[in-house]
Amino acid sequence: MDMKQIQIRETGEADLNDILEVEKQAFGYDKEAELVHQLLNDKSAALMLSLLAFCDDEAIGHILFTKAAIEGTDPSPLVHILAPLAVKPDYQKQGLGGMLIREGLKKLKELGTKMVFVLGHMEYYPKFGFTHDAGGLGFPAPYPIPAKHANAWMVQALRDDVLGRVQGDVKCSDVLNQPEHWQE
Ligand SMILES: CC(C)(COP(=O)(O)OP(=O)(O)OC[C@H]1O[C@@H](n2cnc3c(N)ncnc32)[C@H](O)[C@@H]1OP(=O)(O)O)[C@@H](O)C(=O)NCCC(=O)NCCS
Repeated sequence: MDMKQIQIRETGEADLNDILEVEKQAFGYDKEAELVHQLLNDKSAALMLSLLAFCDDEAIGHILFTKAAIEGTDPSPLVHILAPLAVKPDYQKQGLGGMLIREGLKKLKELGTKMVFVLGHMEYYPKFGFTHDAGGLGFPAPYPIPAKHANAWMVQALRDDVLGRVQGDVKCSDVLNQPEHWQE
């Protein structure tokens, strides 16, 4: 894959089938695609950011950031949760996941997002600026994360003035707010 040929853009309603196909192929099962479908229709997840990556005309990667909030702050700073990230198997390990993360963070920064959270591979996301153990930094996840997985709940500040100044439980969108999404 020639990375110069990759195009990344925000998705619209006409992209739904492409998005679901990327999710199904990347994960190898349908559950994540169903979650994405529900999240795209979740009003409490707006303002969300959904990006598709294309190689020629084929959709090969997708990333979704949904809105969250910090409990006990009024108004809450604008924060987002990254979930999920998906790259079709033939295109994995060539840098596309990283491209989608970087592009997403750039657009969120422009939107005014202060922090981005992710629950995921603890060796992967720190390559793109995420810090382990967001709970230990004062941002417990919507459901308790077992101590042995504490480092998998990560945060990245997009502004200098948030970490250490704001603290509180992270409140996610209605669709994400189910215990099954926060377990192994
Ligand atoms: C995880 C996923 C999104 C990564 O996308 P990708 O395009 O393959 O990743 P990149 O090419 O940007 O990877 C960059 C680096 O991370 C490493 N990496 C990739 N997947 C990894 C993983 N699961 N765990 C740890 N490191 C990983 C790569 O080896 C590469 O390392 P290097 O920079 O030292 O060479 C992709 O493999 C995927 O869709 N997997 C199935 C779905 C999934 O698990 N999604 C994540 C949900 S949290």
